[in-house]
Amino acid sequence: MSAPHAHGRGPGTETGAASGESGEAPIAFWERRYSGAEPIWSGRVNATLAAAVGDLAPGTALDLGCGEGGDVRWLASRGWRAVGIELSPTAVARAEAAAVEAGLGVDRARFVVADLGEWAGDPAGIDGGEARGFDLVTASFFQSPVELPRDRILRAAAGRVATGGHLVLVSHAAAPSWAPGHGGDFPSPASELAMLDPAPDDWGTVTAEVRTRAITGPDGEPATLDDTVVVLRRR
Ligand SMILES: C[S@@+](CC[C@H](N)C(=O)[O-])C[C@H]1O[C@@H](n2cnc3c(N)ncnc32)[C@H](O)[C@@H]1O
Repeated sequence: MSAPHAHGRGPGTETGAASGESGEAPIAFWERRYSGAEPIWSGRVNATLAAAVGDLAPGTALDLGCGEGGDVRWLASRGWRAVGIELSPTAVARAEAAAVEAGLGVDRARFVVADLGEWAGDPAGIDGGEARGFDLVTASFFQSPVELPRDRILRAAAGRVATGGHLVLVSHAAAPSWAPGHGGDFPSPASELAMLDPAPDDWGTVTAEVRTRAITGPDGEPATLDDTVVVLRRR
């Protein structure tokens, strides 16, 4: 997500460290990342997410680590009733302001400040308790250089997908082409499926692949980003 993650112009590619490299508390790290005067992402939907959601019939949607809310607003504009959960109050304030500006009421685009590590222990207590679960649960670039219990959260998230609904995970599959030595944990389609371990009786795999995006690098050069895309459908 360095300069350009899908929609981004943010300063650093967030990779998926399972535990903190710096030891900095996640809330302190992310609030600092969002502390500038300007948004760090473009506000547009992640293109890979948009392609993966495609023409699914709108229903209820939950976006994990929604940042400044670009994906939630896009979903809402396509008819979904979308909720974003995000650790950073600053990011959520921006997401809410942009939703108001776009004319999206809280019935269509709602944001919750919460630590998804705690949510994973009591999802219904934080996400509004959609009793039947959500028709769509998404997580775009839910990766962090500081502590993030990603696997635990995503497994809990799978449990919030309603019958017939979809789980869509879009992640950095590799360092950006302009910074090949960039460290971090990069989920592959295989590692995502191994982590989720979806029971075949309960889940069908719609997509599990790496997609390459052509983008403009930080110095204006042609560059690429590889995204791991996993889409599961609950039977
Ligand atoms: C790399 S950003 C991606 C943001 C957004 N999904 C996007 O694609 O623009 C990861 C986001 O996860 C959030 N995050 C990290 N740890 C979290 C946690 N424990 N609970 C909720 N959100 C968290 C961060 O604050 C950050 O906004």
